[in-house]
Amino acid sequence: MKFFVDTADTNDIAELAESGLLDGVTTNPSLIAKSGKRFVDVVAEICKLTHGPVSAEVVAMDHATMMKEAEVLRKIADNVAIKVPLTLDGLKTCKALSDDGTLVNVTLCFSANQALLAAKAGAAFISPFVGRWDDIGSDGMNLIADIRTIYDNYAFGTEILVASVRHPIHVLEAAKIGADVMTAPPAVIKMLLNHPLTDKGLAGFAADWEKTGQSIL
Ligand code: E4P
Repeated sequence: MKFFVDTADTNDIAELAESGLLDGVTTNPSLIAKSGKRFVDVVAEICKLTHGPVSAEVVAMDHATMMKEAEVLRKIADNVAIKVPLTLDGLKTCKALSDDGTLVNVTLCFSANQALLAAKAGAAFISPFVGRWDDIGSDGMNLIADIRTIYDNYAFGTEILVASVRHPIHVLEAAKIGADVMTAPPAVIKMLLNHPLTDKGLAGFAADWEKTGQSIL
């Protein structure tokens, strides 16, 4: 499973890129606002930190303006993926850009039927938001399983990008279902490292090593 980080914080992205864990980056207008930087500048900075796809989202609601915005965004770097909302105008934009060889990430997906439409429109990625589904009392992971079944039934190449990931169980369940990608905030990716027995074991080894009085260097 590929790991994307869901942030526009370039320090966090640089740190994860150095660890070799990072396969790409997703942003959205809220994350760009939080960065306090100019959209085009921050996307350019991010694109230099990873070779993987960097999702940059259009903000227009109509197809013609989405296309104009996408034109600006895709010129930033070769690894920009244009993110469009799951609306009819978004799908028209998805189809036009995909036909032109641009990677498109269709976002704000909350149903398997919506994911089916995005695949038919040629999306490279579909972003179902599991956390926001959980927030309203549904099981977001059922959505991922349904999309996996549908995409496999028809051999769609669209990658399932599990979004709105809030905790390590989301990552585990997404991997078990066979999602292609997950995107999570840096803190959630770091949580995947944690296990109390790792900490306990490390403390034990350090204490025993101390007793030897030796040094490797
Ligand atoms: C995905 O591309 C979105 O940016 C993101 O995962 C949304 O997550 P949230 O529901 O935690 O805002």
